[in-house]
Amino acid sequence: MRIGTILAVALCACAAAFAQEAKSVEKLAPYYPTPETVVERMLKLGGLKAGEKMFDLGSGDGRIVIMAAEKFKADATGVEFDADLAKESSARIRSLGLEKRARIIQGDIAKQDFSSAALLTVYLLPTSNSKIRPMLEKQLKPGTRIVAHDFTFQDWTPVKEEHIEDDGEGRSHTLYLYVR
Ligand SMILES: C[S@@+](CC[C@H](N)C(=O)[O-])C[C@H]1O[C@@H](n2cnc3c(N)ncnc32)[C@H](O)[C@@H]1O
Repeated sequence: MRIGTILAVALCACAAAFAQEAKSVEKLAPYYPTPETVVERMLKLGGLKAGEKMFDLGSGDGRIVIMAAEKFKADATGVEFDADLAKESSARIRSLGLEKRARIIQGDIAKQDFSSAALLTVYLLPTSNSKIRPMLEKQLKPGTRIVAHDFTFQDWTPVKEEHIEDDGEGRSHTLYLYVR
């Protein structure tokens, strides 16, 4: 076989594998950012402390990760499958000089390991919370806090709820704090 043919076959195999990988990511929610005022309330409700590891599951433009690292001095990781959002948020982290405390993993929430987390923040659809719940139950160490925005985790009982009547733009929000 000629070298050109070998290269073409290898490239096709790579592209097919990549397409398969991309297809296998299940979209757990559309991109719908949490207002900054609510982000702060989520991190306060989660009792985030300096140096603690936190993860935002589906990190969008990175606003939760950035506030966690910048204002709360936490060690913050976002997981986001959308390539543009992951790139944009990583660039913002770099431009703010937060690389030591903040990062974005471009990948699938369902394929991550959250066992080192002290706090998780979650703004996904109710059905998606049910899908990832068994994985979190297996992975999370006792005492891990989870703050869910607007949608509960079925079968888990929140230790605290916070209602925000108006976020400044006329929208109301409810936050749920769980402790594993
Ligand atoms: C409602 S938005 C929340 C964004 C951010 N956490 C916030 O509160 O501002 C949900 C995000 O999850 C991302 N997402 C959905 N399914 C995902 C998956 N399987 N793996 C990684 N990210 C995912 C979407 O692309 C979107 O950015």
